[in-house]
Amino acid sequence: MKTLVVGASGATGRLVVSQLVERNFPIKVVVRDKSTVLDSYKENELVEMVRGNIDAYDLNQMTQLVSDCSAVICCLGHNITFKGMFGPPHRLVYNLVTKICGIAESKANPKRLILMSTTAYTNRKIGEALKGKDAFIFGLLKLLLPPHKDNMLAGDYLVENLGSGAGLEWVAVRPDSLIDKPTVEDYELFETKQRNPLSDPGKTSRIQVAHFMAELLSKDDLWNQWLYKTPVIYSKE
Ligand SMILES: NC(=O)c1ccc[n+]([C@@H]2O[C@H](COP(=O)([O-])OP(=O)(O)OC[C@H]3O[C@@H](n4cnc5c(N)ncnc54)[C@H](OP(=O)(O)O)[C@@H]3O)[C@@H](O)[C@H]2O)c1
Repeated sequence: MKTLVVGASGATGRLVVSQLVERNFPIKVVVRDKSTVLDSYKENELVEMVRGNIDAYDLNQMTQLVSDCSAVICCLGHNITFKGMFGPPHRLVYNLVTKICGIAESKANPKRLILMSTTAYTNRKIGEALKGKDAFIFGLLKLLLPPHKDNMLAGDYLVENLGSGAGLEWVAVRPDSLIDKPTVEDYELFETKQRNPLSDPGKTSRIQVAHFMAELLSKDDLWNQWLYKTPVIYSKE
Protein backbone atom coordinates (compact mmCIF):
# COMPACT_ATOMS: atom_id res chain seq x y z
CA MET A 1 0.00 0.00 0.00
CA LYS A 2 1.15 3.49 -0.83
CA THR A 3 0.89 6.89 0.78
CA LEU A 4 -0.59 9.62 -1.39
CA VAL A 5 1.09 12.99 -0.89
CA VAL A 6 -0.83 15.99 -2.21
CA GLY A 7 0.83 19.38 -2.32
CA ALA A 8 3.98 17.30 -2.86
CA SER A 9 5.59 19.98 -5.02
CA GLY A 10 5.25 22.55 -2.22
CA ALA A 11 7.94 23.67 0.18
CA THR A 12 6.78 21.22 2.88
CA GLY A 13 5.32 18.56 0.60
CA ARG A 14 8.63 17.89 -1.14
CA LEU A 15 10.28 17.37 2.27
CA VAL A 16 7.53 14.91 3.19
CA VAL A 17 8.34 13.04 -0.02
CA SER A 18 12.04 12.82 0.89
CA GLN A 19 11.29 11.79 4.49
CA LEU A 20 9.02 8.97 3.27
CA VAL A 21 11.48 7.83 0.59
CA GLU A 22 14.25 7.77 3.23
CA ARG A 23 12.04 5.35 5.16
CA ASN A 24 11.44 3.22 2.06
CA PHE A 25 7.73 4.05 1.93
CA PRO A 26 6.12 3.60 -1.50
CA ILE A 27 4.36 6.84 -2.37
CA LYS A 28 2.18 8.41 -5.00
CA VAL A 29 2.30 12.12 -5.73
CA VAL A 30 0.02 14.32 -7.80
CA VAL A 31 1.83 17.26 -9.35
CA ARG A 32 0.59 19.87 -11.75
CA ASP A 33 1.57 19.54 -15.43
CA LYS A 34 4.30 22.17 -15.44
CA SER A 35 5.85 21.30 -12.10
CA THR A 36 9.47 20.09 -12.26
CA VAL A 37 10.21 20.13 -8.52
CA LEU A 38 10.05 16.35 -8.11
CA ASP A 39 11.68 15.41 -11.43
CA SER A 40 14.66 13.92 -9.57
CA TYR A 41 12.32 11.12 -8.42
CA LYS A 42 11.28 10.15 -11.96
CA GLU A 43 13.39 7.01 -11.95
CA ASN A 44 12.76 6.21 -8.28
CA GLU A 45 10.79 2.98 -7.96
CA LEU A 46 9.25 4.11 -4.69
CA VAL A 47 7.63 7.17 -6.24
CA GLU A 48 4.67 7.05 -8.62
CA MET A 49 4.16 10.45 -10.20
CA VAL A 50 0.71 11.38 -11.44
CA ARG A 51 0.29 14.55 -13.49
CA GLY A 52 -2.86 16.57 -12.90
CA ASN A 53 -4.60 19.14 -10.77
CA ILE A 54 -5.83 17.49 -7.59
CA ASP A 55 -8.57 20.10 -7.15
CA ALA A 56 -10.10 19.10 -10.48
CA TYR A 57 -10.47 15.44 -9.47
CA ASP A 58 -14.09 14.44 -9.01
CA LEU A 59 -15.08 11.82 -6.46
CA ASN A 60 -14.72 8.93 -8.92
CA GLN A 61 -11.26 10.02 -10.05
CA MET A 62 -10.21 10.54 -6.45
CA THR A 63 -11.55 7.11 -5.44
CA GLN A 64 -9.51 5.57 -8.21
CA LEU A 65 -6.44 7.60 -7.25
CA VAL A 66 -6.46 6.45 -3.61
CA SER A 67 -7.58 2.88 -4.25
CA ASP A 68 -4.03 1.59 -3.62
CA CYS A 69 -3.20 4.09 -0.86
CA SER A 70 -3.57 3.32 2.83
CA ALA A 71 -2.78 6.92 3.83
CA VAL A 72 -2.98 10.45 2.49
CA ILE A 73 -0.81 13.38 3.55
CA CYS A 74 -2.17 16.78 2.56
CA CYS A 75 0.34 19.63 2.35
CA LEU A 76 -1.76 21.71 -0.02
CA GLY A 77 -1.71 25.46 0.41
CA HIS A 78 -2.72 28.42 -1.69
CA ASN A 79 0.12 30.00 -3.68
CA ILE A 80 1.21 33.30 -2.12
CA THR A 81 0.27 35.38 -5.16
CA PHE A 82 -2.78 37.60 -5.66
CA LYS A 83 -4.33 34.93 -7.90
CA GLY A 84 -3.43 32.14 -5.48
CA MET A 85 -4.83 33.97 -2.46
CA PHE A 86 -7.99 35.49 -3.91
CA GLY A 87 -8.74 33.49 -7.06
CA PRO A 88 -10.42 30.08 -7.24
CA PRO A 89 -10.28 27.43 -5.92
CA HIS A 90 -11.22 29.01 -2.61
CA ARG A 91 -11.65 25.65 -0.90
CA LEU A 92 -8.59 23.78 -2.12
CA VAL A 93 -7.78 22.11 1.21
CA TYR A 94 -11.38 21.69 2.40
CA ASN A 95 -12.38 20.04 -0.91
CA LEU A 96 -9.55 17.54 -0.66
CA VAL A 97 -10.33 16.70 2.97
CA THR A 98 -14.06 16.22 2.38
CA LYS A 99 -13.48 14.04 -0.69
CA ILE A 100 -11.00 11.81 1.15
CA CYS A 101 -13.34 11.54 4.16
CA GLY A 102 -16.27 10.66 1.89
CA ILE A 103 -14.28 7.91 0.21
CA ALA A 104 -13.00 6.49 3.50
CA GLU A 105 -16.52 6.49 4.98
CA SER A 106 -17.61 4.08 2.27
CA LYS A 107 -15.06 1.65 3.75
CA ALA A 108 -12.61 2.13 0.88
CA ASN A 109 -8.97 3.16 1.12
CA PRO A 110 -7.41 5.28 2.55
CA LYS A 111 -7.53 4.50 6.26
CA ARG A 112 -5.43 7.44 7.47
CA LEU A 113 -5.22 11.15 6.72
CA ILE A 114 -2.60 13.64 7.90
CA LEU A 115 -3.53 17.26 7.31
CA MET A 116 -1.04 20.11 7.39
CA SER A 117 -3.01 22.62 9.41
CA THR A 118 -1.79 25.70 11.28
CA THR A 119 -1.71 27.27 14.76
CA ALA A 120 -4.16 29.79 13.30
CA TYR A 121 -6.65 26.94 13.70
CA THR A 122 -8.32 26.99 17.11
CA ASN A 123 -9.53 23.61 18.34
CA ARG A 124 -12.55 24.49 20.48
CA LYS A 125 -13.17 20.82 21.28
CA ILE A 126 -10.10 20.77 23.53
CA GLY A 127 -10.88 24.08 25.20
CA GLU A 128 -8.93 26.47 22.99
CA ALA A 129 -10.69 29.79 22.53
CA LEU A 130 -10.18 33.09 20.77
CA LYS A 131 -10.81 36.15 22.87
CA GLY A 132 -10.92 39.93 22.44
CA LYS A 133 -8.51 41.34 19.87
CA ASP A 134 -7.49 37.87 18.62
CA ALA A 135 -11.09 36.86 17.98
CA PHE A 136 -11.60 40.10 16.05
CA ILE A 137 -8.44 39.68 13.92
CA PHE A 138 -9.00 36.01 13.14
CA GLY A 139 -12.67 36.77 12.37
CA LEU A 140 -11.56 39.44 9.94
CA LEU A 141 -9.00 37.11 8.35
CA LYS A 142 -11.67 34.47 7.87
CA LEU A 143 -13.85 37.03 6.16
CA LEU A 144 -11.20 38.62 3.96
CA LEU A 145 -8.57 35.96 3.33
CA PRO A 146 -9.89 32.88 1.47
CA PRO A 147 -6.83 30.68 2.24
CA HIS A 148 -7.32 31.27 5.98
CA LYS A 149 -11.00 30.39 5.73
CA ASP A 150 -10.09 27.28 3.73
CA ASN A 151 -7.69 26.08 6.45
CA MET A 152 -10.28 26.78 9.18
CA LEU A 153 -13.02 24.89 7.32
CA ALA A 154 -10.73 21.91 6.72
CA GLY A 155 -9.74 21.79 10.42
CA ASP A 156 -13.36 22.14 11.54
CA TYR A 157 -14.44 19.39 9.19
CA LEU A 158 -12.11 16.91 10.88
CA VAL A 159 -12.53 18.13 14.45
CA GLU A 160 -16.21 19.09 14.55
CA ASN A 161 -17.84 16.98 11.83
CA LEU A 162 -15.80 13.82 11.54
CA GLY A 163 -14.42 13.44 15.06
CA SER A 164 -13.50 9.91 15.98
CA GLY A 165 -16.64 8.13 14.85
CA ALA A 166 -15.98 7.75 11.13
CA GLY A 167 -14.10 5.23 9.03
CA LEU A 168 -11.06 7.47 8.67
CA GLU A 169 -8.29 7.96 11.20
CA TRP A 170 -6.79 11.46 11.06
CA VAL A 171 -4.22 13.78 12.60
CA ALA A 172 -4.12 17.52 11.85
CA VAL A 173 -0.59 18.82 12.43
CA ARG A 174 -0.38 22.48 13.47
CA PRO A 175 2.96 24.20 12.80
CA ASP A 176 3.49 27.80 13.92
CA SER A 177 5.37 30.29 11.67
CA LEU A 178 7.09 28.19 9.04
CA ILE A 179 10.80 28.56 8.41
CA ASP A 180 13.27 26.55 6.33
CA LYS A 181 16.16 24.61 7.85
CA PRO A 182 18.41 22.06 6.13
CA THR A 183 18.22 19.43 8.86
CA VAL A 184 15.70 18.15 11.41
CA GLU A 185 16.44 19.92 14.68
CA ASP A 186 14.71 19.03 17.94
CA TYR A 187 11.03 19.85 18.12
CA GLU A 188 8.30 19.73 20.72
CA LEU A 189 4.71 18.56 20.37
CA PHE A 190 1.74 19.78 22.40
CA GLU A 191 -1.98 19.07 22.39
CA THR A 192 -2.79 22.77 22.63
CA LYS A 193 -1.19 26.02 21.51
CA GLN A 194 1.51 27.18 23.90
CA ARG A 195 1.93 30.63 22.38
CA ASN A 196 -0.27 33.25 20.80
CA PRO A 197 0.18 32.85 17.03
CA LEU A 198 -0.49 36.57 16.48
CA SER A 199 1.35 38.35 19.28
CA ASP A 200 3.95 35.75 20.28
CA PRO A 201 4.43 33.27 17.42
CA GLY A 202 6.86 30.41 17.68
CA LYS A 203 8.76 28.86 14.82
CA THR A 204 8.51 25.49 13.14
CA SER A 205 10.74 24.37 10.30
CA ARG A 206 9.12 22.68 7.34
CA ILE A 207 11.51 19.76 7.66
CA GLN A 208 10.36 19.23 11.27
CA VAL A 209 6.76 19.07 10.03
CA ALA A 210 7.76 16.58 7.32
CA HIS A 211 9.73 14.48 9.82
CA PHE A 212 6.82 14.33 12.28
CA MET A 213 4.37 13.37 9.53
CA ALA A 214 6.64 10.56 8.32
CA GLU A 215 7.16 9.38 11.90
CA LEU A 216 3.40 9.30 12.44
CA LEU A 217 3.06 6.83 9.59
CA SER A 218 6.13 4.85 10.67
CA LYS A 219 5.28 4.32 14.33
CA ASP A 220 1.90 2.99 15.41
CA ASP A 221 2.38 4.09 19.02
CA LEU A 222 3.00 7.67 17.86
CA TRP A 223 0.00 7.46 15.54
CA ASN A 224 -2.22 6.23 18.37
CA GLN A 225 -0.91 8.98 20.66
CA TRP A 226 -2.01 11.73 18.25
CA LEU A 227 -5.02 10.06 16.64
CA TYR A 228 -7.99 12.45 16.21
CA LYS A 229 -5.86 15.27 17.62
CA THR A 230 -4.43 18.55 16.35
CA PRO A 231 -0.81 18.46 17.60
CA VAL A 232 1.02 21.76 17.73
CA ILE A 233 4.67 21.51 16.70
CA TYR A 234 7.34 24.06 17.68
CA SER A 235 11.08 24.13 17.19
CA LYS A 236 12.80 23.53 20.52
CA GLU A 237 14.42 26.77 21.64
N1 LIG B 1 3.37 30.17 6.21
C1 LIG B 1 3.26 29.75 7.44
O1 LIG B 1 3.91 30.26 8.37
C2 LIG B 1 2.32 28.60 7.75
C3 LIG B 1 2.22 28.17 9.05
C4 LIG B 1 1.45 27.07 9.33
C5 LIG B 1 0.76 26.41 8.31
N2 LIG B 1 0.83 26.89 7.02
C6 LIG B 1 0.09 26.14 5.99
O2 LIG B 1 0.89 25.09 5.50
C7 LIG B 1 0.47 24.70 4.21
C8 LIG B 1 1.66 24.37 3.32
O3 LIG B 1 2.64 25.37 3.37
P1 LIG B 1 3.86 25.38 2.31
O4 LIG B 1 4.65 26.60 2.58
O5 LIG B 1 4.53 24.05 2.29
O6 LIG B 1 3.01 25.55 0.94
P2 LIG B 1 3.51 25.80 -0.56
O7 LIG B 1 4.99 25.70 -0.71
O8 LIG B 1 2.86 27.04 -1.06
O9 LIG B 1 2.87 24.53 -1.34
C9 LIG B 1 1.54 24.50 -1.70
C10 LIG B 1 1.22 23.24 -2.48
O10 LIG B 1 -0.15 23.31 -2.88
C11 LIG B 1 -0.23 23.20 -4.32
N3 LIG B 1 -1.29 24.05 -4.85
C12 LIG B 1 -1.46 25.38 -4.64
N4 LIG B 1 -2.55 25.83 -5.31
C13 LIG B 1 -3.06 24.75 -5.97
C14 LIG B 1 -4.18 24.58 -6.83
N5 LIG B 1 -5.00 25.59 -7.13
N6 LIG B 1 -4.40 23.36 -7.33
C15 LIG B 1 -3.58 22.31 -7.03
N7 LIG B 1 -2.51 22.42 -6.21
C16 LIG B 1 -2.25 23.62 -5.68
C17 LIG B 1 1.11 23.70 -4.82
O11 LIG B 1 1.31 23.19 -6.14
P3 LIG B 1 2.28 23.98 -7.17
O12 LIG B 1 3.68 23.67 -6.72
O13 LIG B 1 1.94 23.35 -8.48
O14 LIG B 1 1.93 25.44 -7.07
C18 LIG B 1 2.05 23.09 -3.78
O15 LIG B 1 2.27 21.74 -4.03
C19 LIG B 1 -0.43 25.84 3.74
O16 LIG B 1 -1.78 25.41 3.79
C20 LIG B 1 -0.24 26.94 4.76
O17 LIG B 1 -1.43 27.68 4.95
C21 LIG B 1 1.62 27.96 6.73
